[in-house]
Amino acid sequence: MKILVTGGAGFIGSHLVDNLIKKNYSVIVADNLSTGKRVNLNPKARFYHLDIQDKKLEAVFKKEKPAAIYHLAAQMNVRKSIADPLFDARTNIIGVLNLLENCVKYKVKKFVFISTGGAIYGDGVKIPTPETATEAPISPYGIVKLATEKYLHYYHHQYGLNYTVLRLANVYGPRQNFQGEAGVVAIFCHQLKNNQPLFINGPGRQTRDFVFVADVVAACLKALTDKKPNIYNVAASRENNIQQLVATLQKVSGRKTPVKHRPAIKGEQMRSCLNYQKIKKHLSWSPKYDLEKGLKETWQWFKEN
Ligand SMILES: NC(=O)c1ccc[n+]([C@@H]2O[C@H](COP(=O)([O-])OP(=O)(O)OC[C@H]3O[C@@H](n4cnc5c(N)ncnc54)[C@H](O)[C@@H]3O)[C@@H](O)[C@H]2O)c1
Repeated sequence: MKILVTGGAGFIGSHLVDNLIKKNYSVIVADNLSTGKRVNLNPKARFYHLDIQDKKLEAVFKKEKPAAIYHLAAQMNVRKSIADPLFDARTNIIGVLNLLENCVKYKVKKFVFISTGGAIYGDGVKIPTPETATEAPISPYGIVKLATEKYLHYYHHQYGLNYTVLRLANVYGPRQNFQGEAGVVAIFCHQLKNNQPLFINGPGRQTRDFVFVADVVAACLKALTDKKPNIYNVAASRENNIQQLVATLQKVSGRKTPVKHRPAIKGEQMRSCLNYQKIKKHLSWSPKYDLEKGLKETWQWFKEN
């Protein structure tokens, strides 16, 4: 079975590609390397250096005829989406439509979309948040992720395209980009490695649900087998605040650089924690890594790379 992974040179996408290849799938990657890196690319995957908005994408579908798609390529910087919603929409809406139109034309059977939990549900929802919670995104990034989910519903209704949406919590692990704004674990690992102070925005009481990348990849693999359209949270269902994260990271790394506080970021979400009971029931998925075990592997990678 041939599978196209968009964003396959990125953090989560490259781990997914490695695992698909291990399972003997034939894998092709489309990535514009805007945040992804060549060094992440599995040499056994055929690589197309391409923007998903590009008309040349059709030639890839025509030549490769993938049976399934994992769509991870995205502009995923929330602050950038606020500063430039047009740029955000070009990748996250126009790019998605370019993919979906080709899926219909070249009869792709399955579309797995990597969506987000925190940015879609927003604050003020039940914790841990189930998929049935009212979506209330407060950033263009959250809005386009939700819009893509709605487009998938439409493409299923209109053309019969089967899909699975995975709404991820805060993912962390080896290869995460520490230059982004989202990867707080990667940013802290980088600061620890360089014996720099750890900078926390505000007092550090905002909570996140940290899920290890290997668990996310396992959920992606299970999603391929789902016969009907579904939306699932993928999370650890553990609410940790940033101070707790720092303490655990200092414990596993054995490094204690000073902690400094910067002013809180206006509008930053205060709580995020997702309920994963639905994917557990439907696809028998549950996370295997607790925070300490995941941070140990992550820290090891950062130390060595
Ligand atoms: N990391 C998280 O905590 C998290 C949480 C929820 C959802 N997600 C989603 O997971 C997906 C992967 O995120 P990641 O953390 O691996 O980030 P990443 O930046 O490492 O990966 C994104 C990849 O997409 C590529 N890309 C971006 N725009 C593109 C375009 N227009 N055309 C082709 N390729 C393009 C980048 O070069 C990169 O390789 C994204 O869709 C993101 O929204 C991530």
